[in-house]
Amino acid sequence: MKILAIETSCDETAISIIDGKGGLKSPRFSVLSSVVSSQIALHTEWGGVVPNIARREHQKNLLPVLLQVLEQADFLNDKYQNPNDKKISKIKLKKIQKYLEREPELLKLLLSTFHFPLSTPNIDAIAVTHGPGLEPALWVGVNFAKALSALWDLPLIPTNHMEGHISAVLLEEKPIRTNFPAIALLVSGGHTELVLAKSWGDYKIIGETQDDAVGEAFDKVARMLSLGYPGGPEISKLAKTGKRDAIPLPRPMISQTNFNFSFSGLKTAVLYYMRDNKKTDKADIAASFEEAAADVLISKTLRAAEKHKARSIIIGGGVAANTHLRNELKRRTKKRLPDISVFLPSPKLTTDNAAMIGAAAYISQKPKRPGNVVARANLRL
Ligand code: KG4
Ligand code: ZN
Repeated sequence: MKILAIETSCDETAISIIDGKGGLKSPRFSVLSSVVSSQIALHTEWGGVVPNIARREHQKNLLPVLLQVLEQADFLNDKYQNPNDKKISKIKLKKIQKYLEREPELLKLLLSTFHFPLSTPNIDAIAVTHGPGLEPALWVGVNFAKALSALWDLPLIPTNHMEGHISAVLLEEKPIRTNFPAIALLVSGGHTELVLAKSWGDYKIIGETQDDAVGEAFDKVARMLSLGYPGGPEISKLAKTGKRDAIPLPRPMISQTNFNFSFSGLKTAVLYYMRDNKKTDKADIAASFEEAAADVLISKTLRAAEKHKARSIIIGGGVAANTHLRNELKRRTKKRLPDISVFLPSPKLTTDNAAMIGAAAYISQKPKRPGNVVARANLRL
């Protein structure tokens, strides 16, 4: 089943075509093409993502990214450039105009691009992230997906972004076999969740942050240290030369038996420490912060794995690209729960991309009538 997936929940305009095979026991995927167009440079000067800039950029980027993806997958050959193809039926045109009513720039581009394949490419379904994320950004992808599904007469599968992060690990070239139950640790700029997975597609949140997401804490601490945005990779780089035990930082909620997190206090502790100890080496601050954040995440993940008799641990989301977190999670799992396998997607699959949305859509197999698909900023698993 070939799925064209669209992801615009935050500041990456991403589209991918994946090919899914096999049943829910062992789904397998090949990524035929995947393009991520990042807007980070535009948001950097604001120190975070500005929803309306994201929305404007998605409108601009979606069509060029789509053409690139179709070309990469070899779906843009001559047969799609037949001038006869240029005739769209009146009914279809009306639908497309309606779906893209609020994206006039995108509609104009869509109707004026000569190379655009008006006949259906060799794809079986369209998937789109419909939440969680920034609502103005989500809507652009959702409306574009509706227009494509009308144009190409393809089913539309609205997909949860966090299910995408859980599924990313399935996109590795070397196929994996995950044993269930599994505990998934999802760590991104907007979320920090522990999820109990009974099988692919059967997910329950068992704990989550009560305030800031861990990625948000990385970004905010990076700002305090005058590092660039996004802060995660910057902190990680700086931490390599620092001492992890240089500064005594709190591990919020670490001894509570629930699986919830809190990162706002950790961030504030860094702020106060910097205020009172102005001469501290920045690398020591970065390393101590990274250590404290990883310690809480891993301690709770292992406790959850133990309690739910998990056989696998999966990690996903932007912060899962963090080398220290990855190494420590592997090391501590091996030491405390040696029978559990840890699945770490490669760093380029942990940050936002559309291939993971395609994989989650293949697993969910739940198409919806395009007219009923809406963006939902606070969608939960
Ligand atoms: O999943 P993602 O790409 O977007 C969201 O859905 O939020 O995650 C972005 C977050 C940002 O907060 C960023 O600072 C963080 O992931 N991040 C990292 C690293 N790479 C990205 N955090 C720590 N270490 C990294 N290497
Ligand atoms: Zn994400």
